[in-house]
Amino acid sequence: MRQNNLTSSKDSDLKLDIDSIVISEAEIQERIKELGKRISFDYQGKNPLFIGVLKGVLFFLADLLRCVTIPLEVDFLAVSSYSAEARNKGVVRLVKDLDIPIDGRHVVFVEDVVDTGLTLNYILQNLKMRQPASIKVCTLFDKRKHRLITLPLEYVGFELPDRFVVGYGLDFREKYRNLPFIGLLKSSVLTRETSPE
Ligand code: PRP
Repeated sequence: MRQNNLTSSKDSDLKLDIDSIVISEAEIQERIKELGKRISFDYQGKNPLFIGVLKGVLFFLADLLRCVTIPLEVDFLAVSSYSAEARNKGVVRLVKDLDIPIDGRHVVFVEDVVDTGLTLNYILQNLKMRQPASIKVCTLFDKRKHRLITLPLEYVGFELPDRFVVGYGLDFREKYRNLPFIGLLKSSVLTRETSPE
């Protein structure tokens, strides 16, 4: 494949901040194929509605849906916390609601990562009030050690270590989401002051 010098140089710059790769691009894509296959089997004839919560889920949802072989629909939610304190209590604000009604629908709620579980718990409570026929959760990454609320996760890609990792949707100050793998950030990046761009 022909290399675009400008693109490869930018990619190299972002990767320079990575200490080590925790989950490779190939491992992620392979696991997503398996999840897509399982979901396609489980939801045959059900025309499931996939719901993602922005922004981190963007990459996973796009790749997952291309591995699902049955008819489906997709919609998005966006949430924002009222304050750090409210967020710690599991209260989030819906800043973009769904476009599609979910009553009577089979919903697959897709997350990039479940950490404390507070966001997911809040959203699930909200969605369940709208009386879907069923609702199951599919998360690519699970940070079980941080969990404050036990929630059933039907489809899980990987358990993440208790480290600050970025890539494949996971960010540090909104950067690194576009890395195709999960990597450990260099400690120097975590501690250095951000300079205005
Ligand atoms: C991430 C992730 C979940 C939430 C999980 O979103 O997408 O929504 O954190 O954390 P919790 O289990 O501790 O509640 P984030 O708030 O980082 O926003 P983003 O998707 O825009 O990165």
